[in-house]
Amino acid sequence: MADRTSNQMWGGRFAAGPDAIMEAINASIGFDRRMAAQDIAGSRAHAAMLAATGVISDSDAEAIREGLLTVLSEIEGGTFAFSTALEDIHMNVEARLKALIGEPAGRLHTGRSRNDQVATDFRLWVRDQLDAAERGLIALMRGLLAQAGAGADWVMPGFTHLQTAQPVTWGHHMMAYVEMFGRDLSRMRDARARMNECPLGAAALAGTSFPIDRDMTAAALGFDRPCANSLDAVSDRDFALEFLGAASICAMHLSRFAEELVIWSSAQFRFVALSDRFSTGSSIMPQKKNPDAAELIRAKVGRIFGANTALMLVMKGLPLAYSKDMQEDKEQVFDAADALMLALAAMEGMVRDMSANRAALAAAAGAGFSTATDLADWLVRVPGLPFREAHHVTGTLVAMAESRGCDLPELSLADMQSVHGAITADVFGVLGVENSVGSRQSFGGTAPVRVREQIGIWEARLG
Ligand code: ARG
Repeated sequence: MADRTSNQMWGGRFAAGPDAIMEAINASIGFDRRMAAQDIAGSRAHAAMLAATGVISDSDAEAIREGLLTVLSEIEGGTFAFSTALEDIHMNVEARLKALIGEPAGRLHTGRSRNDQVATDFRLWVRDQLDAAERGLIALMRGLLAQAGAGADWVMPGFTHLQTAQPVTWGHHMMAYVEMFGRDLSRMRDARARMNECPLGAAALAGTSFPIDRDMTAAALGFDRPCANSLDAVSDRDFALEFLGAASICAMHLSRFAEELVIWSSAQFRFVALSDRFSTGSSIMPQKKNPDAAELIRAKVGRIFGANTALMLVMKGLPLAYSKDMQEDKEQVFDAADALMLALAAMEGMVRDMSANRAALAAAAGAGFSTATDLADWLVRVPGLPFREAHHVTGTLVAMAESRGCDLPELSLADMQSVHGAITADVFGVLGVENSVGSRQSFGGTAPVRVREQIGIWEARLG
């Protein structure tokens, strides 16, 4: 059994230590040890500031600095003995510091509290994740740009309702995801810009009477400024929620793309072949090559959405300022961040490795009367029919082709003229899929010339 004597950090008014169940529900060291590096960075900045403002002596600050470096190397080297009785990462680090350097360790906690300490550590941790997400997104977007560049003019079916709608280009489809992940990237950057304020020095909730320099600690930790309200500083978790919100939308985008890859890699579609490196086999069916990575990316969304919901619910009823409920803010964010980074990396790998089946894409592009809209547009443009009438004429021709089991370009001119006398042989020019996509040059359209323009714009943006 762990030692149940009263706690060395706050045991002054306690005669007895906690019940084992109390200790179990109270401890966060099992997960918040992931913030060890951030905790030590925060303590180093705080100690240096306390010395600079004359609150502690330079020699104490130096002892603290060296001691903290030792603690960090013990943690990184895996020799640190984490203790559940010491509750969390903050008290584990401080207790070890005390064992290493003695009395000066007790001066480190001057002018701060675990409340501003944990808020600072967690911000630093989430900030790293926003940066990692940014890197992951950029790598994925580069992979998509490479795919788009290779197949800017490859035709494929575009779908609505998963029914063949109009032909589009492979490049255009890839660039649709570049737009989506581009917005995800900007959400991560926005969140980072907004969250980059330092809670340290807010102390328990009210600030401190020591002459601390909050600008100094903020700058040392790479924050733009200190948080302006001490109550808000210790009780705000918006920064984690914004990360989870941006991560949720990003995961949703990843999942949609993953779903397409699952469909596209099926024997029925054969639009893409995933590489061996990003597929798995079946233990019973030798012919199988399964898109497991895509399926898992699709499924990871559950964790990330779940984390977002969980943290919203933890926070929604809390009065100011800190409540211990907020200790439940971390695990799900850690889990969601891990899931997101893995999903981004797996998607990037799949995208870089996959090969589009140009012939299958082209064959499917022409099927399903995909150029019917081009025919209707031609009837408007050339003989000058009102669009509604052109739509009706085209619908009649589609029904005719369908009843004969052929595609629109396989109808004869005489067949077409039997439906509308103004149709001429010219019409066959627009029934080809290449012409169809080539003609859609409106801004944002699928024409290869437009797609290449957008690729150039994004390449310049990503630098
Ligand atoms: N382990 C705590 C957490 O994660 C640290 C803050 C504890 N503060 C307190 N007043 N008990 O939230």
